[in-house]
Amino acid sequence: MASGAEFINPFGRHCARVPLGGFPPFDAGTWVRQRARGQAPILRRITAPESKAAMPFHTRITCMLGIEHPIVQGGMQSVGVAELAAAVSEAGGLGILTALTQASPAALAAEIERCRGLTSKPFGVNVTVFPTTMSPDYVGYARAALDAGVRIFETAGTQAVAEVWEVLREVPGTLILHKCTAVRHALSAERRGVDIISIDGFECAGHPGEDDIPGLILIPVAADKVKIPMLASGGFGDGRGLVAALALGAEGINMGTRFCATVEAPIHPDVKQKYLENDERGSHLVFRNFHNSARVGKSDVSDEVVRRLKNPDATFEDVRELVSGVAGKALLETGDLSRGVFWAGMVQGLIHDIPTCAELIERIIAEAEAILDQRLAAMRQRAGPAGNVA
Ligand SMILES: Cc1cc2nc3c(=O)[nH]c(=O)nc-3n(C[C@H](O)[C@H](O)[C@H](O)COP(=O)(O)O)c2cc1C
Repeated sequence: MASGAEFINPFGRHCARVPLGGFPPFDAGTWVRQRARGQAPILRRITAPESKAAMPFHTRITCMLGIEHPIVQGGMQSVGVAELAAAVSEAGGLGILTALTQASPAALAAEIERCRGLTSKPFGVNVTVFPTTMSPDYVGYARAALDAGVRIFETAGTQAVAEVWEVLREVPGTLILHKCTAVRHALSAERRGVDIISIDGFECAGHPGEDDIPGLILIPVAADKVKIPMLASGGFGDGRGLVAALALGAEGINMGTRFCATVEAPIHPDVKQKYLENDERGSHLVFRNFHNSARVGKSDVSDEVVRRLKNPDATFEDVRELVSGVAGKALLETGDLSRGVFWAGMVQGLIHDIPTCAELIERIIAEAEAILDQRLAAMRQRAGPAGNVA
């Protein structure tokens, strides 16, 4: 086994010399050096040499975050609370609390404590900077989380997010995952010192940006240019997606919508049912008029939003009461879909059940392993004389 440089994740665990099976032998240090020279990462599954038993997928991201599986639950307004984040982290992924879901920085600190009561594993905090004139106290939320001992942050939003980065950088060892929707924004964030990029394709729930580049193009284009580790986001929900993301050059996946349809998501069962009923066409892109495109689930209310915004002279006032955050929160709590709109991505086409987070993550990893070990491995068998696989 080649030896490589060691690096330490924020929890003090050494991550180097991860034994990678197969030929040629690589370790995590080798992987890091290859990326530093601008080469694409080599995807290898770790196999316990002595037992042949399948092992989880190890990437720079699992190592840096101190998690078992390269699966992150993205920040979700009204959804990213302690029960969900802890369940994802307990299952070996990275759960993320959404700061602005809490009424104040003090309430966020209390939620962090509640999450700690549910899991001893790493979790993060999302700080999303919205394009609004009435800004919440973003820096106050960031400081409250830092003071509570959080060292993993997902950031997203407008360029004003740089102010939050500055505060986070004051505490050594803090890791910043920055979520963005364009390669140029990823490169800019990388230059400004974030640690991990989460790149959201056009398929995603929430704000996919204005470029409309789907993940199949966006992820490899970003992987060719971004040197720090990258999560692929938008449209992921199963093991096929995980393998594809790793093959495209990412080192893990970030999921939002899929985690909404889990037992632990704090969402009314009728809304979870809607995630199941909607298929891959079951979302609308709204707010393009305002250069703030947003993907929401298809429903009578979002149909009406689309109808009103077809008028080229439409203003936000024409839809404000339908799309307000208060209305959306009421919808999630009551299950009454006439109350507002709900965030949802195209991945609804892949959602057919409501598992626990542990069942979901276990299934994704098992599917990914089966794809590599069976489906793809079978395609790599030599063809026999009659064209049959040997
Ligand atoms: C209900 C919901 C709320 C969300 N709220 C936020 C948010 O507050 N901040 C943020 O950065 N992203 C938010 N997102 C986006 C997710 O973090 C993630 O980037 C996205 O859902 C990935 O695409 P997918 O839904 O196809 O998995 C939200 C997504 C959903 C489904």
